[in-house]
Amino acid sequence: MQDSTPAGPCVLVIFGASGDLTKRLLMPAIYHLKRSGLLPESFAVAGVARRDMTAAQFRDSLRKGFDQLSGEKLDPAAWDWLAQRMQYLAGNLDDPATYQRLGKLLGEIDSKYRTGGNYLFYFAIPSSEFDQVVQQLGAAGLVRQQQAAWRRVVIEKPFGSDLASAKELNHLLWEFLDESQIFRIDHYLGKETVQNIMVLRFANGLFEPLWNRHYIDHVQITVAESIGIGTRGTFYDATGALRDMVPNHLFQVMTLIAMEPPSCFEANATRNEKGKVLDAIHSFSRERLHSDVVRAQYAAGRVDGKPVPAYRDEQNVNPGSSTETYVALRLMIDNWRWAGVPFYLRTGKALATRKSQVIVRFKQAPLTLFRDTPVDRMTNNDLTVMIQPDEGVSLRFGAKIPGPDVRIGDVEMRFKYSEYFQAQATTGYETLLYDCMIGDASLFQRADTIESAWRIIQPILDEWKGNRSDPLPLYPAGSEGPDEADIMIGRNGRRWRPLIPPQTHAPA
Ligand SMILES: NC(=O)c1ccc[n+]([C@@H]2O[C@H](COP(=O)([O-])OP(=O)(O)OC[C@H]3O[C@@H](n4cnc5c(N)ncnc54)[C@H](OP(=O)(O)O)[C@@H]3O)[C@@H](O)[C@H]2O)c1
Repeated sequence: MQDSTPAGPCVLVIFGASGDLTKRLLMPAIYHLKRSGLLPESFAVAGVARRDMTAAQFRDSLRKGFDQLSGEKLDPAAWDWLAQRMQYLAGNLDDPATYQRLGKLLGEIDSKYRTGGNYLFYFAIPSSEFDQVVQQLGAAGLVRQQQAAWRRVVIEKPFGSDLASAKELNHLLWEFLDESQIFRIDHYLGKETVQNIMVLRFANGLFEPLWNRHYIDHVQITVAESIGIGTRGTFYDATGALRDMVPNHLFQVMTLIAMEPPSCFEANATRNEKGKVLDAIHSFSRERLHSDVVRAQYAAGRVDGKPVPAYRDEQNVNPGSSTETYVALRLMIDNWRWAGVPFYLRTGKALATRKSQVIVRFKQAPLTLFRDTPVDRMTNNDLTVMIQPDEGVSLRFGAKIPGPDVRIGDVEMRFKYSEYFQAQATTGYETLLYDCMIGDASLFQRADTIESAWRIIQPILDEWKGNRSDPLPLYPAGSEGPDEADIMIGRNGRRWRPLIPPQTHAPA
């Protein structure tokens, strides 16, 4: 984004302006955009929530939030510039009067800041409120585009809770909005490393010729969190790891790894290719639901030496809950590039460490050359895309350990964004908010890919719904996950890359 130009005039309208997302992620991202010179001079923020606050109190709470949460020293000039442009409107989302008042406020903002009637409506609200806000915005005429004035809506995940509800939400959105006005956000796609997957694959001659079933043994995609569910018990207990992470974050990363090169770097070209990957995924037969899907829940344990209660003892969780906090899947993509190459996906809470990464494991070299030497194990060449907390790429290969014998050790070439570009890791919201303002939907999900993702996991949801009485595997908080996930991947002679590498001479 360094060479980008500022976005055009607009107002960012945040529904849910008093909430966690606004404080922790949206406003810091807006501030970073200002610091990077990417906000237009004609810009303003209008916050909407139920809580009674003045605009001054709203600005104050965001400023305090920034100081507490960001760990950054605030640039007072940049903040003051933003603060002057922040308005607040208290109102109920189900009350048509809220939208009448909002329309009036936006008119005033347009006159004062020359924002040109361009509005970006951000839904930082519970998903249960999405439909009524769309309906009310539609009824008030606020999402109707006029000549040169654009109107866009940004929707946070979850986009539905199953295939039927995702379809319903899409149909409702289309009643009032054109698909081009809808930006379904998945903040994973704003992360530099995730975007770098496309650059790595398609801007380098080295990898693409090897990127297929002839050379790749399998792919592992891991999103591990060390924190438990904290205060989000009510939401999480109704959602679970599968719905929360798989059809969005994990599938987004998987499609970037697996898709064909798009014909151009344009939103629909990329999204078409991602859609084809999802459409090529084998549906889960009854048999595969048992062999290729693992769910589990964390039991009491220790993370970083601190005790963590069992999931069922967490606040606002049903003590008899069978909600999964861990899920692992084996997916097969039925196309020429990937036939026979398994994609293993896993995600969970209260695991040994926080780590998101993709491992592309290449096939082993034939052993013949080293038959009469002490080499008993050949290295796996792993290309690792590190997504968080580190951002970067590493390549592991075998090298001769110095000495008279031929012994092979694993070595690693490692590129870290923070070291090479001296870049601070961002949350991803900076890029995504900027893209919404300039109308570039490349990094946002389209209705059909959302529905395809739900179509893949719907049989799992159905199976689990019918089998809630089955014993749910447990894993101790702070561990690598349930044994069942190791058994699943081990069935084909493979192993997960450990979250915490064993203490050997070799990097992992
Ligand atoms: N927090 C995150 O890190 C995160 C990350 C990704 C996605 N999300 C998604 O972002 C959305 C917001 O999450 P959050 O964590 O910010 O939730 P939150 O802290 O509970 O905030 C919800 C916001 O919505 C407002 N609100 C709720 N019901 C309302 C109503 N009937 N009328 C008017 N305002 C209402 C609340 O304000 P009042 O109480 O003042 O009305 C509050 O500002 C959710 O869809 C969540 O899934 C959050």
